[in-house]
Amino acid sequence: MPVIAVIGAQWGDEGKGKIIDLLAEKADVVARFSGGPNAGHTVVNPYGEFRLHLVPSGIFYPYVLCLIGNGVVVSPSVLWEEIEQLRAHGVDTSRLFISQRAHLIMPYHLLLDKLEEESRGKKALGTTRSGVGPAYVDKVARLGIRMEDLLDKENLHHRLQMVLEQKNAILTKVYGVPPLFLEEVYQQCCQHGESLGQFIRQIDPLVQQAVERKEKILLEGAQGSLLDIDFGTYPYVTSSSSTAGGGCVGLGLSPTKVDHIFGVFKSYITRVGGGPMPTELRDETGELIRGRAHEYGATTGRPRRCGWFDAVAARFSAQINGFSGAILTRLDILDTFASIKICTGYKVDSDKLNYFPSSAVVLEKCQPIYEELPGWQSPIDHLHHFDQLPPQAQSYVKQLEELIGCPIVLISVGPRREQAIELRPLW
Ligand code: IMP
Repeated sequence: MPVIAVIGAQWGDEGKGKIIDLLAEKADVVARFSGGPNAGHTVVNPYGEFRLHLVPSGIFYPYVLCLIGNGVVVSPSVLWEEIEQLRAHGVDTSRLFISQRAHLIMPYHLLLDKLEEESRGKKALGTTRSGVGPAYVDKVARLGIRMEDLLDKENLHHRLQMVLEQKNAILTKVYGVPPLFLEEVYQQCCQHGESLGQFIRQIDPLVQQAVERKEKILLEGAQGSLLDIDFGTYPYVTSSSSTAGGGCVGLGLSPTKVDHIFGVFKSYITRVGGGPMPTELRDETGELIRGRAHEYGATTGRPRRCGWFDAVAARFSAQINGFSGAILTRLDILDTFASIKICTGYKVDSDKLNYFPSSAVVLEKCQPIYEELPGWQSPIDHLHHFDQLPPQAQSYVKQLEELIGCPIVLISVGPRREQAIELRPLW
């Protein structure tokens, strides 16, 4: 299967980093296509433990071409720091390329993300404050600065002058904060151009070439489907298309070329930031999951909200993405529980809902309807075959498969590469 997309199926943090790392071993190309430094993919490998925000997780394999697509918004300083950290650990970064069409996160985007969040008060979205939302706003408003602009100083100066006029008016008149200075921002951009220039490329020919040669291309999703700008729990969403369709527009790849779409699901569910989450556990069970799984944001360090697996949301996610396979992560976290719940429907007032509502207001009112299964209460993190799993764990997995509506192809039972049970060949 030459083109595989790996998509977060919940509210992000499903453990995609490890899955991409596993698949990247046999890939020719690994590409990020959406989001920005709001993503944090944790990869544990012989080089050490890394939290990658922008660089595709394929970077650890020296023969893999790593691409940052046009759909990504790039913080040049975060990217440069990441490149330097990788190099310091002996990782070769010479096969990393960034689309010249990718937009930059500028200093005013960072400021605006913070100021906008503060002005929302109790209704704050809980953004990662990495400037991602405001950068996408400018992309759509046709006010963005793109990677290629860093390489054309004259045009850069001209565009910055025009954009800063507008941004400074907002900063000073709406938020009452000091303006940014054109020459300072311009000089910063020139420096970024010097350090990152070697990585900026027209990457669409590289993608087309790989497709023609039938090379193995891995699309590395960021965030999760329930945070998608169109299909997520709006307005508590991120600002990009984190679903499978985003993989095509965010890279310049035809939908007809994608052979497999794998949805990554945690064996329970988490969410970081604001917004409704019907199965959230605000009790000691939630604490127990958070503690066992160390559920703290890779980008912001915020504690993640934890809850039981939500099969209503999972099925919705499988349908809008067209998952051909599901990957279940962190099953080992549930090892100690005497019983495990799965949400199979919602109750709203006296009505029963068996679909995921579009309205965050309605979802807020949804009470989960649970099905309870016995736990296995024994460690599974050393097992390599499905039939070695305790019968209760097998039943849990089969029940999730039935409810999600597509075959489970891989189960992850620990952070290391080898802690995985493959049910079907992935490539
Ligand atoms: P933003 O993407 O920083 O604008 O944040 C918007 C929402 O998406 C917030 O609720 C964030 O917590 C959430 N979010 C963004 N990126 C991630 C991620 O990688 N994992 C989990 N949640 C995320």
